[in-house]
Amino acid sequence: MHDSAWMPTGLDPDVPSAARVYDYFLGGHHNLAVDRAFAHRAAQALPDLPLILRTSRHFLRRAVHFLLDVGVTQFLDLGSGIPSAGNVHEIAQSVTGDSRVVYVDRDAVAIAHAGLMLEGDDHAVALRADMRRPWDVLHSDAVTKMLDLSQPVAVLLSAVLHFVPDDAEAQSIVAGYRGALAPGSYIVISQGTKEPAGRRGDDVIRLYEETDSPFTARDRAQFTALFKGLELVEPGVVYVPQWRPETPEDVDDHPERSCAFGAIGRKPMF
Ligand SMILES: C[S@@+](CC[C@H](N)C(=O)[O-])C[C@H]1O[C@@H](n2cnc3c(N)ncnc32)[C@H](O)[C@@H]1O
Repeated sequence: MHDSAWMPTGLDPDVPSAARVYDYFLGGHHNLAVDRAFAHRAAQALPDLPLILRTSRHFLRRAVHFLLDVGVTQFLDLGSGIPSAGNVHEIAQSVTGDSRVVYVDRDAVAIAHAGLMLEGDDHAVALRADMRRPWDVLHSDAVTKMLDLSQPVAVLLSAVLHFVPDDAEAQSIVAGYRGALAPGSYIVISQGTKEPAGRRGDDVIRLYEETDSPFTARDRAQFTALFKGLELVEPGVVYVPQWRPETPEDVDDHPERSCAFGAIGRKPMF
């Protein structure tokens, strides 16, 4: 039995889902009692958690605006999550009639709702897939029909690589996408780090082992290593609120409270 009609069949309603917990923290409604109970425990362990997830989402918004400003109109959003306010295709379509967006997530709820949201939209599509398999994603019908990989594309890895525990695997995933992109393409990455949260960071990471997506924090050096073969766009690797803040609300005196690094890399022309 599911506690809601929107829940796709075949899911275990007793296991919290990282995607639905994130949805709950962002004020969404596509979450279950098990997700809400988990979110409350996680916020008790790390009271900044709701702020952390919001600042991460704000980084994504600013990154997409930057990419549109430099003329990129094609987006491959990996680990796109359950649709929420400020989805990538909405930001892109508010700026240009020409954008193309492919959303990819392994979570059934995320893709079911993205599919509903995109009904009748010829410029965006949702694909249920594992972003750890770049070849499969890049050769999917969704990508080959929606995106022209001979032209610059922005690959978004926002708050998703911390679900890949192994550094070498995370680097090889990024390399798999980078290798297929045209020069002048961009890769956006944000990911959690735990040092600023001290012991509370370890507590919340331990809690996430109960979800479908255990969490791995990375320090600045591990995060920076993800950008091998890319030119970092200014300001380089920073805490997410420090990445080109647009208003005083975007960044305060303690950007490290975001517990997340963010950066954008550009595939060199030569
Ligand atoms: C924290 S949410 C981030 C959502 C969105 N990218 C954002 O920044 O607002 C992480 C999402 O990544 C998805 N995810 C985790 N591992 C994945 C994988 N291997 N392949 C595809 N999606 C994945 C989860 O299902 C979840 O929806």
